[in-house]
Amino acid sequence: MKELVIAPSILSLDFARVEEQLKELNSSHAKWLHFDVMDGHFVPNLTFGPDILKGFKKAVDMVMDVHIMVSNPVFFADVFAKAGADIITFHLEAVEDIDACIRLCRHIRSLGVKVGVSVKPKTSPEVLLPYLQEMDMVLVMSVEPGFGGQSFMEAMLDKVRLLRKEIDAKGYATRIQIDGGINEETGKLAVEAGCDVLVAGSYVFKGDIHERVDRLLWQK
Ligand code: DX5
Ligand code: ZN
Repeated sequence: MKELVIAPSILSLDFARVEEQLKELNSSHAKWLHFDVMDGHFVPNLTFGPDILKGFKKAVDMVMDVHIMVSNPVFFADVFAKAGADIITFHLEAVEDIDACIRLCRHIRSLGVKVGVSVKPKTSPEVLLPYLQEMDMVLVMSVEPGFGGQSFMEAMLDKVRLLRKEIDAKGYATRIQIDGGINEETGKLAVEAGCDVLVAGSYVFKGDIHERVDRLLWQK
């Protein structure tokens, strides 16, 4: 397993204090910034466009981890690659089939950007197992995508265990990220199951940013 990474989700950032909070994030032990893109169609919520990503990228020295919850991931992958994403994670449910999924993985990598594939709570990741070498990351959603502040779905840890077993057996470098309802307790469970990237929104921003990131990072 790779070194644990904390990726605060800016969905829960206080937008009245953006500059201050970005500075705090940048000086914290969080290495990635999780940037949630929603199109009001794939999920019933709307968030940030590429210009916001460009601005944030100038403000912090962090890996731009872009999670696109959109119905047209082919279009948005290009848009956010151009805007400076370091890793783009799209949803398996948003592409036609596994062939289209792999085509998009290869396309994103061809742009010099890392790629992740995400599964919603009702989707099994089994179809991805033979193709994990095509992905830099698999994102297991532990809430229904769309909103921060929901409760962690513990049953999703079975997916993490399944993926971890396959990744380790094959010796792949693919990371496993979990997103939704992560706090000190659920983060610990996720790491024990095999996750190496924890996304956390409300937990990080509803307290002292540095302290909350450290608690997630060192609860191993
Ligand atoms: C939800 C987003 C998450 C969200 C997590 O669709 O993908 O990244 O910000 O928020 P919390 O950590 O509050 O569940
Ligand atoms: Zn997310």
